[in-house]
Amino acid sequence: MRREPAETLRVLLPRVRIARRVHQLGVQISRDFRGESVILVGVLKGACIFLADLSREIALNATFDFLAAGSYGQSNETSGQVRLLKDLDTSIEGRNVIVVEDILDTGVTLNYLVRLLRQRHPKALRVAALLDKADRRIQPFTADYVGFRIPNRFVVGYGLDYAERYRNLKDICVLRMAKGKAESKAK
Ligand code: IMP
Ligand code: MG
Repeated sequence: MRREPAETLRVLLPRVRIARRVHQLGVQISRDFRGESVILVGVLKGACIFLADLSREIALNATFDFLAAGSYGQSNETSGQVRLLKDLDTSIEGRNVIVVEDILDTGVTLNYLVRLLRQRHPKALRVAALLDKADRRIQPFTADYVGFRIPNRFVVGYGLDYAERYRNLKDICVLRMAKGKAESKAK
């Protein structure tokens, strides 16, 4: 994997731990929705690898849909305002919806998305977040399914990016930047 000289990677969650946890989440979801079908709504682009693996651990009829959200403005720090960049292709009315997200950080994105999707009257609306950085929350939010609670570090890999790079790492790694490119600015 090509790496900028100023960036170093340290494995936080190795692929075997991720696989084991994703399997457990799939078992739990399959149990919670036994006898029903679900629609997995992936939040682009970070959640695509998690969704691909999680869906194969779910023993139910499952369909996929995707949406994309982004925050207003150019700043690295979240502005607290989110907008929809890509909407779902299908109706979720009366369906069991599981929003699949890579990481729950400030909570701004998922608060916005859940409020939006609830207006469409799904039968059930749940959120699965692979990672949860609870210390960073500026808006309260609790996901129904959480893979790992992690400390306040900037992480990449398994779908998560820094400037669109590193999504294809198999492990989840902490990205450290040399001085002048602070970790907190890496959003
Ligand atoms: P929130 O609205 O602050 O909860 O934003 C969540 C989004 O911020 C995620 O979907 C990621 O795109 C991004 N994000 C937050 N923390 C990280 C990180 O450590 N690495 C990569 N992306 C992150
Ligand atoms: Mg994301």
